[in-house]
Order: sequence, then C-alpha cells, then structure tokens
Amino acid sequence: MTQQPANPKSRVARGTGNILVTGATGLLGRAVCQALGARKVKFRALVRVSSQRDLLQGTNAWMAEGDLLRPDSLLPALEGVEVLLHLAGLVRSKDPAALQAMHVDATRDLLERSTARRVVVVSSDTVERTHRSAYADSKLAMEELLAGLDREIVILRPPMILGPGSPHLAALERVARLPIVPVPAGSGRRRPVWVGDVADAVLAAMDLPSDQLPGRPIDLPGAFAVPLPTLIKAVARAQGHREPRILEVPSTALRGVARALQTLRSEPLLSIERLEGLAEEVMSDGKMARHRLGWKPRVLEEILAGCYAAPAAGR
Ligand SMILES: NC(=O)c1ccc[n+]([C@@H]2O[C@H](COP(=O)([O-])OP(=O)(O)OC[C@H]3O[C@@H](n4cnc5c(N)ncnc54)[C@H](OP(=O)(O)O)[C@@H]3O)[C@@H](O)[C@H]2O)c1
Repeated sequence: MTQQPANPKSRVARGTGNILVTGATGLLGRAVCQALGARKVKFRALVRVSSQRDLLQGTNAWMAEGDLLRPDSLLPALEGVEVLLHLAGLVRSKDPAALQAMHVDATRDLLERSTARRVVVVSSDTVERTHRSAYADSKLAMEELLAGLDREIVILRPPMILGPGSPHLAALERVARLPIVPVPAGSGRRRPVWVGDVADAVLAAMDLPSDQLPGRPIDLPGAFAVPLPTLIKAVARAQGHREPRILEVPSTALRGVARALQTLRSEPLLSIERLEGLAEEVMSDGKMARHRLGWKPRVLEEILAGCYAAPAAGR
C-alpha cells in the first residue's frame, strides 16, 4: 500500500526511511521506486500537489509533498534524508528559462537545503553534443554546479530511455505507423536503454562505496548503437505493424522545411535544433558504468519486448 503523511506540512513521520527520490512519478522515477520497493527498503517519494500519485501504487513509497521550484516547500521531505536520488527534470521543455530554473537553480536550492551524504543525479548524454539544445545546456550547467560541491555526488548520463509510457517511444510509434518515413541522410545512431536498467544503475550508484566514487559523470550507453531507420522499423515490428519505407532526405532540404515551419508555428514538429540533434551521434563510453555499476544494458529487442509486455503506466 502506498502511504502518505496524515498532514504533509507536519514533520515527516519517523520510520519513512532516509532515502528521498525526486521525480518519483516520472518514467525513471517509477522504475526506481519499484526497484526500491522490491528491496523492501523504506523511502520517500517527492510528489507535487498535482502529481499522479497512483503511479506509485504498490511501490511502498511514502509520499512527501514538495515542489522543486518552491525550495522551502522541500524542507519537511528533506528532514533526515541521507541519500538523495535526484531524478526530476524537464524532458519535454525547450524553454531555456524553465530549463535553467529546474535543472540548475532548483538543484542548487535542493542541495543547499539537504544534508544528504550521497546524492545521485541524473543528467543526460546530450551534454556531450557539439550542437547542444537548451535542455543539454541546462544539464551541463547542472553538472558544473555539482562539480563544485563537497559531497558524495554521482552523476549519471543516460541516453534515450525507453519504457512503458516513454515519450521517446510514443514519438517512435507515431512515425513507425507511417507508410513512408523521411529521415535526414546521415542521421547519427542512437543507443536506447531500458528504463529498468537505468533504475538499477541509480541504485548501484547509491550503493557505491565512498572510495569508489568516480571523479566524473558516468555514461550509461545502450548495448548497441542503432541507426535511426533500424530503430523505427524495430518499433513497427514490435507493435505488429508493417515496417515503413525509410526515405533518406538530404538534411539541407529538411532544414528548409524546418525553417518554413518555424515561421508558421512556435512549436514546430521539425525544428533546426531537432535536426541537429538527429544528425549528431554521441560517442559515450560504458567502461566506467560496467566496472563501477555492473552496467549490462538490454539489447533493443529485449527493450521493446519490455515496453509492450506491460500496459503503459498512465502517461
Ligand atoms: N526520458 C529520457 O529519455 C531521458 C534521457 C536522458 C536523461 N533523462 C533525465 O532523466 C530524468 C528522469 O526523466 P524522466 O523521463 O523520468 O522524466 P519525466 O517522466 O518527465 O518525469 C519528470 C518528473 O519530475 C517531476 N517534476 C517536474 N517538475 C517538478 C517540480 N517542480 N517539483 C517536483 N517534481 C517535479 C515530475 O513530477 P510530476 O509527476 O508532478 O509532473 C516527474 O515526476 C530527468 O532528469 C531527465 O532529464 C531522461
């Protein structure tokens, strides 16, 4: 049963453990809460007033209310916390101010109010791109902020995370249903990872002995680099559809379309930023993750089987 303090504003009740998960109701957060629940440890899940708490049903999480953008609201949830799993993030926003507020300012405010000795923070492999989006810039600024702090901090950099209810999966499903899919010629390969594998890495980072903490962020690359057309076709097959025909289009032509769309709509489906993101391949290195976290990611077929084995968790 999921629990909740009788009065969320009161001192967080004793016996709720010393681990706090932020972003608990998110794609990754749900998997982390399930993994913690399976270990039968007591932990707190940070939820907002508006959060869909039933997503954490069955994880045994103690709901602790707070909003990362209102730092003082976090004080009851942070009381006595020794391990902070900071997963909350804005994955869909393109607004630089909102991204800075969430990834940089809110992270700094959270850590200033926390006495946690171990902090695991989720960044993104996009920080390694040459053409960084506002999202990647804010994650990099967050990493720089964390590097200056005297704490036991482990930063993880996952690539595209797939799992039930993943927005990346939803986007792939939309294109996989089309008869013909235009793809920019020379698109970079992707290294998707299973949400459960990333959750296991978060818990392994939490357990890492103090003398084995890495001095730099840990990449969590997928098992194989997959070309975009292969990824789209695999999603079509996993859903029982016919594979779409992939049409490689010179990216200069697609840039023209993106520019035109940008003048017509403030949130175009195809943007220059998105094209640049598609073009570039992030060359991450899984060696440190293997050695320190026992990282052994699932292959694409296993990931997709996992995605379609259970119904999407409400998002
Ligand atoms: N998804 C990916 O492919 C991917 C890839 C690389 C890195 N990452 C990073 O991994 C982390 C988890 O991503 P995800 O896909 O699980 O994200 P997600 O599904 O969008 O979940 C975001 C979580 O953050 C919470 N949150 C947002 N604003 C908040 C606020 N002001 N106060 C408190 N909580 C707030 C949300 O709570 P509500 O339920 O209340 O909205 C939700 O629990 C993020 O840091 C993301 O940047 C994700």
